[in-house]
Amino acid sequence: MLTAIHPAREMLALRLQDARARTDELFSIIHPAAIYRRPVPERHRLIFYMGHLEAFDWNQICRRALDVPSFQPEFDRLFEFGIDPEPGRAPADTEADWPSRDQVGQYNRKTRQIVDDRLADAPEEILHVAIEHRLMHAETFAYLLHNLPYQDKLAPKASLSPAGPPPDSSWIAIPAGQAVLGQKRGDGFGWDNEFEAHAATAAAFRLAKHKVTNSEFLEFVNSGGPAPHYWVARGGQWLYRAMFREVPLPLDWPVFVTGEQAVAYAHWRGKRLMSEAEFHRAVGNRLYPWGDSPPTPERGNFDFTRWDPEPVNATPGGDSEHGVSQLVGNGWEWTSTVFTPFAGFQAFPFYPGYSANFFDGRHYVLKGGSPRTAACLLRKSFRNWFRPNYPYVHASFRLAEDC
Ligand SMILES: [Fe+2]
Repeated sequence: MLTAIHPAREMLALRLQDARARTDELFSIIHPAAIYRRPVPERHRLIFYMGHLEAFDWNQICRRALDVPSFQPEFDRLFEFGIDPEPGRAPADTEADWPSRDQVGQYNRKTRQIVDDRLADAPEEILHVAIEHRLMHAETFAYLLHNLPYQDKLAPKASLSPAGPPPDSSWIAIPAGQAVLGQKRGDGFGWDNEFEAHAATAAAFRLAKHKVTNSEFLEFVNSGGPAPHYWVARGGQWLYRAMFREVPLPLDWPVFVTGEQAVAYAHWRGKRLMSEAEFHRAVGNRLYPWGDSPPTPERGNFDFTRWDPEPVNATPGGDSEHGVSQLVGNGWEWTSTVFTPFAGFQAFPFYPGYSANFFDGRHYVLKGGSPRTAACLLRKSFRNWFRPNYPYVHASFRLAEDC
């Protein structure tokens, strides 16, 4: 019996099934007529992602790792790569350039069947890559859905987090010391950019206990600062464009902003963003800010429990040993660190561009996680990166200052 012989492989097969259910759920939210829409100009049409997840699994597991002959090579290529153009250089394809939803559905069903038949032969690392790739897309696809007009979405039953007591604006001193970045080879799966593990010395600094809220950012907007992408002004009031409806601006939620807006706000307050090493100092030496126990909803807002943020002070159970709140979940955190490789970086030979295509000095590291970040991606060594002017990511920030 497979379970008795290969329990690790069986676990990966189950995780792949779970991840598929997660992404299938996302496509079931799109109104059928909206599948060719392109809600974010710098990304592909939605139909691409429907084919991309299976094409990726096919190309990695069947084609590259196991040399299985392709049954539909033109789809393997059409759906192989996503895009990240300079802002304003959006692709110019038309709906007619893409196959029908039924054709993509057939390709997907057949791909899953063959992948599942061959799963026992696939290298474990490639299965991790397939699972995490899919879960990362489950998150970035949620950004696309967030930008899709409400009439194009079928809202699941979900309630918004209620407001609580206003967050305090306290600061926490983090002593000077060494931060360990990255992970050791052999300690489990990690993407190419998570290696090698190394220590970085950080000077003492002070960090805001909470992420910057909509309320705090509103003061900046009222004094002439730029309005965040998900805010909309109606009748002289700011509303927040939540995933499935507009709501009065939730004052105690973290503000989602671009990296440039985060830096501008910090300067306006006479502060700065934290660096990637400072994030690690703030988290501490345990697996997660709260310790070594696995992520659960009382620790933070992540792993698809919610579609939208919750108040910045809603989850004290996730505080770090120094008392910093929500270092993980409720919005990625912009850092001041440019995305570059760690010493000893080696690209995956089977996916050479995963990180290396973005070591261009134009992407910044984000840490932590958003409401739609899968639990397995909350590991401390995981690094996310975006252009500092990309407005669609669920990214927050907090203020730091020198001691
Ligand atoms: Fe992808």
